[in-house]
Amino acid sequence: MKSLIGDLLLQRLAVARGVSSAAPTNRLLYECLRGAILDGTLPAAARLPPSRDLARELAVSRNTVVFAYDQLLAEGYVRSRVGSGTFVAEVFPDTYTTVAPKPPARAADPTAAPPPPTPPLSQRALGLLGRISASTVQWGAFMPGVPDVTAFPHRRFAQILAQHARGGAPSLRSYATAGGHPALQRSLANYLRQARSVTCEAGQILITEGIHQAIDLVTRLLADPGDAAWVEDPGYWGTRSILGVNGVQARALPVDAEGLQLPEATPEDARLRLAFVTPSHQYPLGSVMSLTRRLALLEAARRRRLWVVEDDYDSEFRFAGQPIPSLQGLVDDAPVIYVGTFSKTLYPGLRTAYMVLPPSLADTFRSAQMELYRGGHLLEQAALADFMDSGQYAAHIRRMRILYGARRARLIALVEERLGPGWIHPFDSNAGLHLVLSLPAGVSDVEITAEAGRAGVLVRPLSRYYAASDAPAGLLLGFASVPEAAMAKPMDILASCIERAVQRMRPN
Ligand SMILES: Cc1ncc(COP(=O)(O)O)c(C=O)c1O
Repeated sequence: MKSLIGDLLLQRLAVARGVSSAAPTNRLLYECLRGAILDGTLPAAARLPPSRDLARELAVSRNTVVFAYDQLLAEGYVRSRVGSGTFVAEVFPDTYTTVAPKPPARAADPTAAPPPPTPPLSQRALGLLGRISASTVQWGAFMPGVPDVTAFPHRRFAQILAQHARGGAPSLRSYATAGGHPALQRSLANYLRQARSVTCEAGQILITEGIHQAIDLVTRLLADPGDAAWVEDPGYWGTRSILGVNGVQARALPVDAEGLQLPEATPEDARLRLAFVTPSHQYPLGSVMSLTRRLALLEAARRRRLWVVEDDYDSEFRFAGQPIPSLQGLVDDAPVIYVGTFSKTLYPGLRTAYMVLPPSLADTFRSAQMELYRGGHLLEQAALADFMDSGQYAAHIRRMRILYGARRARLIALVEERLGPGWIHPFDSNAGLHLVLSLPAGVSDVEITAEAGRAGVLVRPLSRYYAASDAPAGLLLGFASVPEAAMAKPMDILASCIERAVQRMRPN
């Protein structure tokens, strides 16, 4: 004789088989039972037939029923009581399922109580959301700061990576426990000593997931909520966001053609812990910090017991003259934490950057990094070390320097053709992956950015890189990822947007 549950399941199984004929019966039976529990056909505390009986009624093997019951038990839909059978749970986990049937749409009941509010976001999250600056679009003319990722020798790098994947120790697929792969730490130490005049040994190097993570580590380990840090104004939005989310006040200091301008000492300096600077190529305006300012900054840092964080994000790309040596290597035992990245020299998606720590901090940072982020990517790091040691990294940078230099020259020529002379920001130092156009006072760079964006041209408004709202207007234009032949059209569009904005300002 068939039970009511048996009848119900027979019908539902027949329908389910019609819908997904390839699915195994045990899975279908589990889904039918779960559906019947979720829609209330099998109410709380209802007793399910013994597995042997149900198997007979449905003409399936007992294992099929046992599988379905075990799965429901594991997910909390049923309870099993030894000796008395299997029962529908009193409170089943409907809120945890993604496939619960949707209740039929009902007309809104004006007398119904409003749904309970979801738990609130933290103050930290609210602060962060209030200053989101990262762009969601990262490729196209003239997105600033983006290298030509298509020029990277992907095939060659993939071969090196494959060699490591085939022959590498199992530990290369595990967590990074020593601040990164020792081979890459050695390669980087050699490279940074030679190319960037950084004073370092491999043991001082920590590999991070981008400069962002390096800034986060520095902030968390060297400053407390309520402390303060000097940042450049205008400056890198990422640093300000990370400081903010960690409760550290960003004190914006103006920059000029010689870089950061140091303030007079004030009583609030007691809470100063850090100073973030981009001495080789001020971000975003482009000035190079003068020797006088460098020495003054190091002296101020010593006197006020601050750590200077030297963000050397794109110094490899200087198109005339010699590279600018690092601040870290300028004097012995400089109170400087140096950070650099492969995001500009190779590609940002690699998410690999590095810090050079003073020996006194290296162990602390290694332990904290392991505890906080549990890094990995050791295979990629081993491949990168080979890529550097074999000279391919330096060769790639040389190639890109020529490519980007030509693209930059073409973009400047187009700006002058389309808009006339005098638009390039006076602090420009013929370096990096972007340039800055100065706009006449009163023109809204935010509006131009929006209008150009609607026409498919990506730029960034300079005013958004300043701390104050009445900031100078300008536009950041990236040239590195745009072939010269593809620049004229977007430049035409952008120039028209600028001309219209200037026109709007003029009295009729
Ligand atoms: C000044 C500056 N610092 C750091 C970064 C971020 O580097 P990473 O991609 O290694 O996090 C950027 C990226 O644009 C930057 O412009």
